[in-house]
Amino acid sequence: MSICKVDDQIAIEVKGIKKNYGHLQALRGVDLKVVKGEIVALIGDNGAGKSTLAKIICGAIQKSEGELYFWGEKTDVQSINHAHKIGVFTVYQDLSLAPDLPVSDNLFLGREIMRNGFLGKLGVLDRKTMRNESKKALAAL
Ligand SMILES: Nc1ncnc2c1ncn2[C@@H]1O[C@H](COP(=O)(O)OP(=O)(O)O)[C@@H](O)[C@H]1O
Ligand SMILES: [Mg+2]
Repeated sequence: MSICKVDDQIAIEVKGIKKNYGHLQALRGVDLKVVKGEIVALIGDNGAGKSTLAKIICGAIQKSEGELYFWGEKTDVQSINHAHKIGVFTVYQDLSLAPDLPVSDNLFLGREIMRNGFLGKLGVLDRKTMRNESKKALAAL
């Protein structure tokens, strides 16, 4: 389901992605294009393979077959850190959120912005920058 198309620059393209977990074939050739500014929802039954596809795109697991392109460039996403470097971030659902922390802390969970602390030595969380960045991101939605 696609909500708002801004232009036709393809941010993410998934071609013929397959994923096997042992004998179980979870993805049997997924094709998907996400253009710049587009909001895409993956909808399907439990076990349809939504999480598997999302994990492949964000580098949490490796595909068995197929190709991934980011901004037109063929890329094998090696890890979550690699995904971050090419601008792919994931906000996890329910149990992976920290309900006691504010929204901005959750958005930056695992990739916190730090600033120099005491005498420029110890890094401390830069909550102000994280809050501002979160506000911008939420306003953009
Ligand atoms: N780590 C795993 N090992 C084996 N099978 C898995 C694993 N993760 C998911 N599966 C199986 O792959 C299929 C797709 O699962 P999943 O991607 O979680 O679907 P969805 O997110 O749409 O509910 C299901 O049959 C599920 O049982
Ligand atoms: Mg799922």
